[in-house]
Amino acid sequence: MGQATHLSRAALMFLSRREGLKEVATGVPALRRIARRFIAGETLEEAVSAVKELNARGLTVSFDHLNEAVRNADETLDEVREYQRLLARIDQLGVRGNVSLKLTQCGLLLDPELALRNAREVVADAKRRGSFVRVDMEQGEVTQATLDVVRALHREFGEPHVGAVLQSYLHRTEADARALCAERIRIRLCKGAYLEGPGIAFQDKKDVDENYLRVMRILLDSGLYHGIATHDERMIQETLAYARKKGLPPGAFEFQMLYGIRRDLQERLVAEGHPVRVYVPYGKHWYPYFMRRLAERPANVWFVMKNLVKG
Ligand code: FDA
Repeated sequence: MGQATHLSRAALMFLSRREGLKEVATGVPALRRIARRFIAGETLEEAVSAVKELNARGLTVSFDHLNEAVRNADETLDEVREYQRLLARIDQLGVRGNVSLKLTQCGLLLDPELALRNAREVVADAKRRGSFVRVDMEQGEVTQATLDVVRALHREFGEPHVGAVLQSYLHRTEADARALCAERIRIRLCKGAYLEGPGIAFQDKKDVDENYLRVMRILLDSGLYHGIATHDERMIQETLAYARKKGLPPGAFEFQMLYGIRRDLQERLVAEGHPVRVYVPYGKHWYPYFMRRLAERPANVWFVMKNLVKG
């Protein structure tokens, strides 16, 4: 990563954690409009209508109710209720989709036991409805605690109602992938969206990509149904080539992409017969998610500036 890109990423990630800015930004109508490129809406019904359209185009989804770093116990209970409402709506409408959940939205930074209790409620509901909960992965300080909770839920509810996310920028990920596969836990593999230091994470894109491919091969060798989450065409082509070499049929794994990013690629893969799931975030607390999307791609900052100037 170039020095300038690294600095602008660091600045955007710093801004993403400013509570005061979050209040201001989410109140600016022009920014809310721009954020809609990446966020399906502020309400469940707006997300549902975006998802119906994606389903009609042959894409499955994972809904995500946006919120993170929640430090108020009552607010974590509201999150559980929102996920229960969401799972009920998916069931009622026969939407092809599951849900993604963050443990810091369930109170992980406040009390790991509370987060486990809250996540358990959501997974129990998902299991009753024959659905699935993907536990998103967040910053490095919570990697181990997050995997501990996923393992506890997997032991309690069994396959296939809960899954983990691993980030290829972390040095530990190859070992985590081997261990989780041995425990038959489904994995979403992504590159990683937070800013991590050299002590725990690869700093060069080349190393992150190499590790992505190394871990992808572990996942495809495991015989489990995993998610290959990336918009990087090289990662996708290498995955397809490895699957062909191994003689895996289409449907042995799925590709996953984010709402609003590379729609052309999403549709092309579906047309070629590969399952593709779109991650669909919605809700009022979109600011940190939006800032991470800007940090991933400096060109997005220009997109925002241009649209703000246009008004
Ligand atoms: P890379 O960053 O190399 O980008 C490849 C290409 O994709 C770019 O050249 C561009 O064309 C396009 N692209 C990528 N990001 C873009 C953006 N923001 N705007 C426009 N175009 C963009 N991370 C995490 O830490 N924890 C998690 O739980 C998840 N969950 C998750 C779910 C799903 C379904 C996806 C696809 C991704 C995540 N991520 C995540 C985010 C992930 O870690 C990573 O930050 C982004 O996917 C960007 O990385 P790429 O693999 O796309 O490659």
